[in-house]
Amino acid sequence: MALWHRCLQFSFFLAESFAANHPLIIVPGLTGSGLEVKEHDAPMPHSFCKTGTRGKWMKVWVSPVQVLPEEIDCLLSRLTLTYDPASDTYSNLQNVELRALGWANGTAEDESHMDILYEYQFRSMLKKLGETQGYKLGKDVFIAPYDWRLAGDAHSKRQNGVGGYYPQLQLLIEETVKATGRQAVVLSHSLGCPTILYFFHKFVSEEWKAQHIHGWVALSSPWMGGANLVESYLGGWTLGLPSWLIPHDYVRPVQVNASSGVMISPHPKAFGSMPIVQTPSRNYTAADVPELVRIIGKSTWGNQTGALFDKLQGPYAELQSTPSKIQLHNWYSKGIKTGEAFIFDSDLHDGFDKAASKTVWGDGDGLVNLLSLKQVEEVWPKDPQTSTKVFPNCTHFGMLSDPRVLTALAEYLARDDRADTDGSQNVTLLV
Ligand SMILES: *[C@@H]1O[C@H](CO)[C@@H](O)[C@H](O)[C@H]1NC(C)=O
Ligand SMILES: *[C@@H]1O[C@H](CO)[C@@H](O)[C@H](O)[C@H]1NC(C)=O
Ligand SMILES: *[C@@H]1O[C@H](CO)[C@@H](O)[C@H](O)[C@H]1NC(C)=O
Ligand SMILES: *[C@@H]1O[C@H](CO)[C@@H](O)[C@H](O)[C@H]1NC(C)=O
Ligand SMILES: *[C@@H]1O[C@H](CO)[C@@H](O)[C@H](O)[C@H]1NC(C)=O
Ligand SMILES: *[C@@H]1O[C@H](CO)[C@@H](O)[C@H](O)[C@H]1NC(C)=O
Repeated sequence: MALWHRCLQFSFFLAESFAANHPLIIVPGLTGSGLEVKEHDAPMPHSFCKTGTRGKWMKVWVSPVQVLPEEIDCLLSRLTLTYDPASDTYSNLQNVELRALGWANGTAEDESHMDILYEYQFRSMLKKLGETQGYKLGKDVFIAPYDWRLAGDAHSKRQNGVGGYYPQLQLLIEETVKATGRQAVVLSHSLGCPTILYFFHKFVSEEWKAQHIHGWVALSSPWMGGANLVESYLGGWTLGLPSWLIPHDYVRPVQVNASSGVMISPHPKAFGSMPIVQTPSRNYTAADVPELVRIIGKSTWGNQTGALFDKLQGPYAELQSTPSKIQLHNWYSKGIKTGEAFIFDSDLHDGFDKAASKTVWGDGDGLVNLLSLKQVEEVWPKDPQTSTKVFPNCTHFGMLSDPRVLTALAEYLARDDRADTDGSQNVTLLV
């Protein structure tokens, strides 16, 4: 009797500690993180651009004021990213410091409302998880935004006021695991997936992953890039942002210089001999993209971006496998027509900036080609810890609010994982 009583008490104790949710860490996609700057005497292109912020952070992405037509040059200057191949370092515009806005709770300093960008992307998801499991932003669900101009090399450490996302992310995960007593689930969308792939493969140790990570849900990942990114280099595609949020051609001047672009450009190892860009005198495959970039950006950004391709594209292919100690849930959609080749009626030249005259469509999620989305199950080394779910007829951004995805996510988060390992399957039933 006494033993039975103690058993019950013990079970109750377990049930209590099990009642906490897995902390959920959300990693947004390309242009999906808010950005803010501090500047003093920053060299600006026009006299009307603000050159100093008096030691305060100023929101630049996305801010209704910053995207006014006369302000756009000021914004682009603030977001300037320079890469110096000789020293292998990145820098911002002189006297500009930049960081992601709304770390962890999605809220800018001195504000109580979630930033409009996070609201737009994650409102439905947060609502659903709040209803089903009582998840609350800032308590057990966190937004981990980052400087989306960068790739894994720059995220690994902060230098010249650029980068340093990974140490910050590692600390957030450690703190939330400690506070909740449960392992974290990382949920990434789009560019957030390659960003996390690098983190798990290159930045944290096996022991760290085994201790802190319950699983990784990767939504709509461009594992080996997408043809659309090349069209954005050429002047057409607008990175999928809604026009009410940001005018359509605003991101291109920033994105052409960005090292993150290399991870989401179509990779030659996956796209092979497909003629992604077709012009009257020449076709360009994925392997020709660095050359294409050097042609159209010859007198401006071409050398810098070409150098980034030389540095980053080869090593990126080596990350194409499930990181050790990680349960990967690869969820994506298909059945939406997606650009896979772009036909231009004139040849490429320095300063080329126009949309394709014709697009060849293929399958995908509207932004990422199916070829890239399905790398995990078709090309990556087989891994029993990895699973794939496909949600037909859902768009790239629709994945963040599709009821099927949200239900699957809620179910996954509610499942009691420890059951499999400690033989206490029924503990939660005792509550
Ligand atoms: C892009 O890089 C070029 C060459 O380094 C530089 O002149 C230009 O200002 C950069 N633009 C942006 C928006 O970063
Ligand atoms: C979000 O976190 C920041 C930094 O910890 C804090 O200053 C701010 O008050 C928080 N906002 C809300 C709405 O909790
Ligand atoms: C480019 O590729 C298309 C489609 O495969 C082909 O029809 C065309 O002849 C090629 N153009 C050149 C210049 O090679
Ligand atoms: C880019 O590199 C080429 C040759 O490597 C050089 O001729 C050209 O001046 C460079 N352009 C810029 C803008 O640095
Ligand atoms: C996807 O949409 C197409 C066209 O609207 C339709 O024919 C097809 O049945 C749909 N598939 C699923 C699985 O919903
Ligand atoms: C757990 O509960 C289920 C049904 O409630 C039962 O069939 C099973 O035997 C129980 N397992 C253990 C280990 O007690």
